[in-house]
Amino acid sequence: MTHNETGDEISIRPASAADGDEIAALHCASWRDVYADVLDRAYLAGPIEADRRAVWSDRLAHPCAAQSVLVAQTPEQAIAGFVCLFRESDPRWGSLIDNLHVHPALRGRHIGERLLHAAVAELEPDQPFHLWVFEANVAATRFYQRLGGVISERALDDMPAARGAPILRITWPGAASLLVRD
Ligand SMILES: CC(C)(COP(=O)(O)OP(=O)(O)OC[C@H]1O[C@@H](n2cnc3c(N)ncnc32)[C@H](O)[C@@H]1OP(=O)(O)O)[C@@H](O)C(=O)NCCC(=O)NCCS
Repeated sequence: MTHNETGDEISIRPASAADGDEIAALHCASWRDVYADVLDRAYLAGPIEADRRAVWSDRLAHPCAAQSVLVAQTPEQAIAGFVCLFRESDPRWGSLIDNLHVHPALRGRHIGERLLHAAVAELEPDQPFHLWVFEANVAATRFYQRLGGVISERALDDMPAARGAPILRITWPGAASLLVRD
């Protein structure tokens, strides 16, 4: 995967069903990288692959009306990152960002920030949105806080592989409150 220092050559487009396997592979690589000490080792070693493939093939083959999946694409047509939004998922906290991942080799080039802005661009400025992040993922939590997100709640993850690891709900009161990083 080639890239420049800023990631400016990356384009963002809606995902199609043909992207499912590549998104699933990137999702696996990212979770294995970031959650090696959070998710169950046996799950990360094997079942994660079929699990993520099933999730993404279903989401992209049978998208619900509330769902938008966007991918960041390199000039060589490789997927550099992805984001999934579910509109109006929660009566209080609004739309849900469910998964934001950037290829480990391409992090820190504002691709994640661009994906997040592109995903919420379809919301009205005053429509709230939120996401969940593992408390152990300090770097991502700081990234969201720098973009104006606020920790509003702490809970325990109910995914079996997470074994009750703590998660934080990060909220924005409206799409307009998603900041641009300095
Ligand atoms: C969190 C993430 C989506 C941000 O995307 P990105 O393109 O790297 O982010 P940007 O370039 O827009 O912003 C960089 C900031 O992200 C944060 N960050 C989080 N994890 C990082 C990583 N592994 N490498 C570099 N920066 C990271 C840093 O705070 C960084 O700010 P800094 O440069 O001032 O230190 C991306 O780093 C990623 O995919 N991380 C692993 C998966 C993950 O944690 N996803 C979120 C799950 S809720």
